[in-house]
Amino acid sequence: MTTTHLRFPTGFRWGTATAAYQIEGAAAEDGRTPSIWDTFSRIPGTVRNGDTGDIAADHYHRMHEDVALLRTLGVTDYRFSVAWPRVQPTGRGPALQKGLDFYRRLTDALRDAGIRPVATLYHWDLPQELENSGGWPIRATADRFAEFASLTAEALGDRVATWTTLNEPWCTAFLGYAAGIHAPGRTSPANALRAAHHLNLAHGRAVQALRAALPGESEISLTLNLHTLRPLTGSAADREALRRIDALGNRLFLDPVFHARLPEDLVRDTAAVTDWSFVEDGDLAAAAAPIDSLGVNYYAPTTVAAGRSETPSPWPTAENHVRFPRPPGPRTAMDWPVDAEGLYELLTRLRTELPGVPLMVTENGAAYEDYADPEGRVHDPERVAYLHGHLAAVHRAIADGGDVRGYFLWSLLDNFEWSYGYSKRFGIVHVDFATQRRTLKDSAHWYARVVAESSLPA
Ligand code: FCB
Repeated sequence: MTTTHLRFPTGFRWGTATAAYQIEGAAAEDGRTPSIWDTFSRIPGTVRNGDTGDIAADHYHRMHEDVALLRTLGVTDYRFSVAWPRVQPTGRGPALQKGLDFYRRLTDALRDAGIRPVATLYHWDLPQELENSGGWPIRATADRFAEFASLTAEALGDRVATWTTLNEPWCTAFLGYAAGIHAPGRTSPANALRAAHHLNLAHGRAVQALRAALPGESEISLTLNLHTLRPLTGSAADREALRRIDALGNRLFLDPVFHARLPEDLVRDTAAVTDWSFVEDGDLAAAAAPIDSLGVNYYAPTTVAAGRSETPSPWPTAENHVRFPRPPGPRTAMDWPVDAEGLYELLTRLRTELPGVPLMVTENGAAYEDYADPEGRVHDPERVAYLHGHLAAVHRAIADGGDVRGYFLWSLLDNFEWSYGYSKRFGIVHVDFATQRRTLKDSAHWYARVVAESSLPA
């Protein structure tokens, strides 16, 4: 009897992903200044249990132990983010050597372990001083970001294989400036749209700065949280609701970055809150600076229908037109649907719409209510099932001719899950936050086998 395995292509990159504010801690050490998340998490009621990233998973002090975990997993790549307020504390001026040194030590340790470093420049920790000057709704922040990209690339360019400019600019713009549920907690639809544009511009400017500072073989990328959308019914009204959300959730980022244009329907839809006059000549061409791959983060699809939703909404100007019904079926501890088909659909859409653009799944994973049993084991069969299903979807997208180069599991460690604090565990390594003890969950052992064989048991 033969068992069929789903084999991934030679050279497929297997990784895990983390983000600085979610794991590092050491919030006031070695010259780091507050980011918008340090400020936001201190406002009562913003983060569950009043949690902050002050200590997080203490990765700043336990970096070598965590790289040893990566070695145990056998991953080929590790995606982390560089904390802007650690490297350039006020968001302006020269780099801080001590901040850069941490990432030098980390990248040295990774390279000694034979693991390729994949660095994200912005995973949501804007220096507070830049928010005080206006934050992402103002153009100057895009210029500051390009400078930060340049400083960081000059210092680490010889040791980082892949650079990602931004992580999920949709979340920065719409959760941070429209819904107000992420830092900095503002609720202005107009500012959210300005932020989205300046993030696209910041990305393009950073790409230019990185190209100028990096060796030719470096790979430059952008990570988006694109939305797989399902209309509740085939009615014209539900399809119209889907079009609106597709414009705000997908095409607002894809069109500038890949086609140097803004979606016309989006400009029309949002006319009541902005005339887009902040878009200057040359901005869209700058946003479209060529990149080498697109990072795709996927957790769950979104069902849409015509109707009204609550305000403040993360969907500026759509709240009077769209509602988000709850589909039946299994869910994770985040209450997000488990739906691997949505990842297949997304990768297939991108293959069709962006031919020639290599894709990387830069985040995928699930939170469940994990705990260590008396023997110190963490049994997480639901996470294994989730990962299995989603990796099979990636495999199918590749078998169809999709150019998907890698998969980064979110996350290596349990960590500070933004407004949920430490209440949601996404790690394949359990962290006891009282002792900082790390324990490999069953899913970590399972993933290590998948990585070692570069194939998925069918
Ligand atoms: C993504 C974020 C990441 C993590 C996961 C669960 O939106 O990029 O930091 O919080 O969700």
